[in-house]
Amino acid sequence: MTLSRESYWADKLDTTYQRTDLLFGLLPREALLERPIGLRHPFLFYLGHLPAFAWNQIGRGVLGAGHLDEALDVLFERGIDPKDDEGARRTSIPTWPSVSAVLSYRDASRRAVRAKIPEVLARASSADPLCENERILHLVLEHELMHQETLLYMLAECRPGLIQRPASVAPPGSSEGRAGERIHIPEGPAVIGAAWDEIPFGWDNEFGRATVSVRAFSLDSLPARNLDWRVFFRANGEPDSLRPRTWIHGAGRLLVKTVFGPVPFEVAAGWPVQVSGEQARAYCAHHGGRLPTEAELCRAAYMAAEGARRPYPWGDAAPAPCHGNFGFARLFPSPTGSHPGGASAWGVEELVGNGWEWTSTPFSPLPGFRAYARTYPGYSADFFDGEHDVVFGASFATDDKLLRPSFRNWYRRNYPYPFTSFRVAWDG
Ligand code: AVJ
Ligand code: FE
Repeated sequence: MTLSRESYWADKLDTTYQRTDLLFGLLPREALLERPIGLRHPFLFYLGHLPAFAWNQIGRGVLGAGHLDEALDVLFERGIDPKDDEGARRTSIPTWPSVSAVLSYRDASRRAVRAKIPEVLARASSADPLCENERILHLVLEHELMHQETLLYMLAECRPGLIQRPASVAPPGSSEGRAGERIHIPEGPAVIGAAWDEIPFGWDNEFGRATVSVRAFSLDSLPARNLDWRVFFRANGEPDSLRPRTWIHGAGRLLVKTVFGPVPFEVAAGWPVQVSGEQARAYCAHHGGRLPTEAELCRAAYMAAEGARRPYPWGDAAPAPCHGNFGFARLFPSPTGSHPGGASAWGVEELVGNGWEWTSTPFSPLPGFRAYARTYPGYSADFFDGEHDVVFGASFATDDKLLRPSFRNWYRRNYPYPFTSFRVAWDG
């Protein structure tokens, strides 16, 4: 039993490391010190952060095993989340270790973490909630999966030409996608979060389970597209504040940035538009609506007219490519309407996949919240500050493991970088 769990986790970690290495491999080695998003550290930090986090959580945190490399364990412990460029300058680190030093540290951490799996498993029946259900291994794994998404949206901010599309990645075709239609959802319950015993692992912010009553509302069946945004943008006189971060000009044409450099607007016209929460709010107001709340999207995605919450919007089936654009199956957004097989009980499409969706709900603790991970008490609590909003769903760069009804994600509402779009909601 324990042996098979050991190989399960060794394999899980290995396949995750392989994808991490593949994604870092998209970046030329000389570019590791580039800092394409000023509010984040350079790429090299993330190369060290993933192994440092894994060791700090499992080795130092749970098992009390001490340092692997004291200076690097500390240097790479946590990222930054400054409000503005001034804050970013204050928290920036002037000199970084060499790439080869970070790579040896990474390999040492991977070996050390691998060697500690049996010790974690041996504590499964102890009173430690981080070992029960192998939670600390889930935590480390999901942390790395989330950073793979971060890495991709940082790559998308690099200057054109830096990140080359490998021949194995097919280029996107052109499509306008499909326009959404307004769907009415009657008054009724939504469940947010989960009960402690309901799922083997969840982050602290997923507990406890709240059942809330949601007033009748309407919702677009699909997210807003680049095409829709262009109409809105022009109608408003094209102010800089409403220009999506991904829209740039090149050779007199409008282009849209992707991980592999800009593509002509026509290629991206049908993709969900990537904007900040503040920008999304302006679009909703222009259409006489508003952003949906977290509870509304939970209801639209996971509830049906009758019965309990479903595991996925489409029902019980394990996530597959027909259900949505998630899990790195494709490294671009898809034209809206490409995944009717992922529609929820109400006929709302793409709630999970093809871009996180902004809500109007400030990220805050659910009733009964506890920062239960003693090794990582600030994971969520540091962001309960009224400045971060919940984003719902998943993007093409969200691993299947993170697709669960209780999973909650968040960004600062003026943050324009992640793969985050939105759809319009209306009262009644
Ligand atoms: C949950 C995606 C908002 O990237 O800031 C990674 C995840 N936290 N390391 C982030 C996270 C610490 C977090 N999000
Ligand atoms: Fe992190």
